[in-house]
Amino acid sequence: MFIAIGESIVARAAALGGYISFSLTACLKTPYEQVHVGTLITMYSNYRIEACGCQPLLARRAMGRCGGCAAATAALVAVFVGLLVSGGLKGTGFFPFLDRLNPAGRGQQLKGVFPAMHEAEAWGFTLAEMPDLSGQVIFVTGGNVGLGYWTAHHLAAHGAAVVIGCRSEARCEKAAMQIRAETASQTVETALLDLASFASIRACASALAKTHPRLNSLILNAGVMIPPFGRTAEGLEMQIGVNHFGHFLLTQLLLPQLEAATAAGVATIVAVSSNAHFVSYPEGILPSIERMNDEQQYNRVQAYGQSKLANILFAQELAARTKDKNILVNAVHPGAVDTDLLRHAIDWLPDAISQALLQAYGSFAWHPREAALTQLFAAVSPTLKSQRITGKYYHPIARETTPDPHAADEEMQRRLWRMTEDFISQQGS
Ligand SMILES: NC(=O)c1ccc[n+]([C@@H]2O[C@H](COP(=O)([O-])OP(=O)(O)OC[C@H]3O[C@@H](n4cnc5c(N)ncnc54)[C@H](OP(=O)(O)O)[C@@H]3O)[C@@H](O)[C@H]2O)c1
Repeated sequence: MFIAIGESIVARAAALGGYISFSLTACLKTPYEQVHVGTLITMYSNYRIEACGCQPLLARRAMGRCGGCAAATAALVAVFVGLLVSGGLKGTGFFPFLDRLNPAGRGQQLKGVFPAMHEAEAWGFTLAEMPDLSGQVIFVTGGNVGLGYWTAHHLAAHGAAVVIGCRSEARCEKAAMQIRAETASQTVETALLDLASFASIRACASALAKTHPRLNSLILNAGVMIPPFGRTAEGLEMQIGVNHFGHFLLTQLLLPQLEAATAAGVATIVAVSSNAHFVSYPEGILPSIERMNDEQQYNRVQAYGQSKLANILFAQELAARTKDKNILVNAVHPGAVDTDLLRHAIDWLPDAISQALLQAYGSFAWHPREAALTQLFAAVSPTLKSQRITGKYYHPIARETTPDPHAADEEMQRRLWRMTEDFISQQGS
């Protein structure tokens, strides 16, 4: 009888998975959208489906050949979501297997991505290990929602003076008030910051310099994922513009305050990247700003991957440049987290389907309250500071991981740095 009940749950969950996958692939209007969603589905499992001769959808440029791949992906996702939602995979060792998987030696892309994958491993950092942060000033970009909000919340709860940077004054104030109420902290401040505008970044940094001459940590958390093609105020493609260029300029402007804080110990900088960096453009970082800004060549998933690869390359280069200054710079992937980041992945779907998808996703993704621990580790961990850990990349929860081989390309790292610096200096101040 128990077996029958179990089977019926699995069957229903598989049906739900099938429905979701069918909705994803069948309801799409154009082959481009089918490929796009297929890419999203395979983003976290970027393997070749050798049996039917399919490349990862991401790598397939020819639209006509993708129908079979989309169908195969839909079938696989149906079975996977079914087993996932029903809990049928727990305890089978499947998730720990995914946690350790290192496809083609390209790194453990799935390490800790979902909580289920973490079940066999201890967390690398817990809330109990958060030190007393009284007297420390920490700036978190994108602190009004999601991971940024919970990062600021935990920091404030442990005594830090936290400044949250957001592009909307109203959303910023609302979040700050909520954190103050939840933590009884009186030291949560707001700063207006639009990372899509150099003028806004400069204004934010100059205001901060007046109020906070010392900054103990800078958490580069804000980000935008797979929007339709758009441009920043300076004409950069939106994802590389906000996620990389904006944070690069902000960091350069705030370095004097971070250096000032090292008089009393080490300062830290955290680049919140993503395992999506494993699915950047084949070249890794495109060779020129013109190519990055070419709307005809724009692939929103690869452009997001490129911007997240840029976060890691930037963190590594900055770590090398600041290693003698007591400033530690690390990059993290927070996991697949239940936040608003997915909005552009589903905003074209009918409401009922996107709600069902979000609900299903939320049931097995990380809550941002816990997922924030990886970036908190890189910002305030006493172990990280005492061991002077810098230039590393972490997956949930606070476990060191090897990034994509592109991240080991020092020439690409230096080229990106030069390209970014040159572009910023051409814009004047
Ligand atoms: N959630 C995940 O599964 C996941 C996985 C891997 C990596 N990440 C990374 O984690 C970071 C935080 O994402 P999240 O999941 O917390 O997403 P989220 O809830 O969408 O938060 C993103 C934050 O970035 C801000 N932002 C977007 N564009 C901005 C701009 N031009 N200027 C200033 N702020 C801007 C947003 O402000 P508004 O509220 O005004 O839009 C928001 O505060 C991102 O860097 C993301 O790439 C997330």
